[in-house]
Amino acid sequence: MRARRNGQLEFANALEVPVAMPEAQPFLKWVGGKAQLLKQFDRLFPHQIDRYFEPFIGGGAVFFHLKHRFPRMRARLCDINDELINTYQAVRDFPSELMQRLDEHLTQYNRDRERYYYLVRSQHHLPRNEIVERAARMIFLNKTCFNGLWRVNARGEFNVPIGSHKNPALYDRTNILAASAALHGVELTTRDFRDTLMETQAGDFVYVDPPYVPVSLTANFTSYAKEDFGVAEQQELSAQVAAAARRGARLMLSNSDVPFVRNLYRGFTIHTVSARRAINRDGAKRGAVNEVLVCAGD
Ligand SMILES: C[S@@+](CC[C@H](N)C(=O)[O-])C[C@H]1O[C@@H](n2cnc3c(N)ncnc32)[C@H](O)[C@@H]1O
Repeated sequence: MRARRNGQLEFANALEVPVAMPEAQPFLKWVGGKAQLLKQFDRLFPHQIDRYFEPFIGGGAVFFHLKHRFPRMRARLCDINDELINTYQAVRDFPSELMQRLDEHLTQYNRDRERYYYLVRSQHHLPRNEIVERAARMIFLNKTCFNGLWRVNARGEFNVPIGSHKNPALYDRTNILAASAALHGVELTTRDFRDTLMETQAGDFVYVDPPYVPVSLTANFTSYAKEDFGVAEQQELSAQVAAAARRGARLMLSNSDVPFVRNLYRGFTIHTVSARRAINRDGAKRGAVNEVLVCAGD
């Protein structure tokens, strides 16, 4: 961690990224992943980004896309999910050790899938300093569980059943190395969105992708963390976004296309984008739905 100056964290200088490196893709399957929407977002992204913030990083599709376009961009990536942030840190700092540990997991898994899956799932309290071990567990569970869903119970323990993947690939070597290079010099922090947004300043660019407002009682998934993300959090988020825009930050926010959201962000430019829903246990509910993309600040 860098020394504080004027109460603000000093950002590490962006390291040189070899130009040949392909654009990294998310190394985790994540509910609400934005990879499919990047083409619709591209025309709305700024033409230049110096400091980038993402308070709800999830699978990171937008960050990897922008980092490839703006290699010198400095970034702070955050999420409330500590295992997730730990996994980004392991990809950034220990890509080879991580891939080796994943190879070991796959070998064990293929010997006795059901037994090994639930053995690894039951390891809820690995020592905090076991960065690679914790990250390998998260990626292993993410790629072998039902529908790639990261869900936790009230104790914050991962509780998704095993999936039915025939030959799950835990990782792609070139992609892990590209993601590791893209994360060099990037600040990764487990924190609540309020703290991240309060740090933004004039000229910063922020992509905000919270748990969505449910479009119906069954359609939306918000159990990313043991803390819920309800009406009060959505209202506080909109107030924080407005405050950041008043400070001169530029923000883009995704959420459901429902009157409650349009009302929260009235006064800002609201675009409609069309997304495919892939993760829904009810196949009939999979298909195209509209979402909003709110642009705040110039
Ligand atoms: C819709 S997902 C982000 C998806 C991401 N943009 C992607 O492309 O994969 C929302 C994220 O918000 C995180 N989250 C939930 N509550 C939070 C909070 N209070 N502060 C910060 N992150 C939170 C969840 O862990 C989850 O990763």
